[in-house]
Amino acid sequence: MSYSAKIGPSILSSDLACLGNECVRMMECGADYLHLDVMDGHFVPNITFGHPMVECLRNCVGPDPFFDMHMMVSRPEQWVKPMAAAGANQYTFHIEATTNAGNLIKEIRESGMRVGLAIKPGTTVEELAPWAGQIDMALVMTVEPGFGGQSFMEDMMPKVSWLRSQFPSLDIEVDGGVGPSTIHKCAEAGANMIVSGSAVLSSEDPRSVIAMLRTAVLEAIQKRSLDR
Ligand code: DX5
Ligand code: ZN
Repeated sequence: MSYSAKIGPSILSSDLACLGNECVRMMECGADYLHLDVMDGHFVPNITFGHPMVECLRNCVGPDPFFDMHMMVSRPEQWVKPMAAAGANQYTFHIEATTNAGNLIKEIRESGMRVGLAIKPGTTVEELAPWAGQIDMALVMTVEPGFGGQSFMEDMMPKVSWLRSQFPSLDIEVDGGVGPSTIHKCAEAGANMIVSGSAVLSSEDPRSVIAMLRTAVLEAIQKRSLDR
């Protein structure tokens, strides 16, 4: 097993007027990476920010924090180069938004970023599977993309379990409604990259929440390796 537990706060749930400071605060609280939600008002019914903001955040936080760009946009091809130039580390696009995933994967790699591939709740895991050998991370959405603070969809867990059984080394991320009350389901299913927005950002003690989420994933990884 070559994957590890990583916790990535979704800063969508933070005070957006203080985004740079919020990113720094999350890293100081023990975040392994930052999950940045890009929405275009077309692929999802909400708008957030684009690559100019990412460039400012990169200048603010310095070179080290890992930026996982969750691209909830139509025509994700359009933003690969600008995001790479702005300082993104991973480009996670939705399979529903493109007709040429193979070409996009290649372009992302050539731009020097890691490749993430996301599926919405209504998309089957079989649609992602043909690409799993070419990507660095699969994102199984556990809410309809568009907004923070929604309820976790437990019925997405079979997708995670199936991916983990087929691709033992793949990074598998869950996003939406994940927090202390739902992390065990995700960890048991085999997710190892955990996005958490409101549960971390609205907590008075984000450090403890991040630590708790990581412990749950580490325990599940340990149990899995003992069971083998
Ligand atoms: C939803 C976004 C999520 C969201 C998660 O479309 O992709 O990253 O911010 O927030 P919570 O954890 O509050 O559901
Ligand atoms: Zn997200």
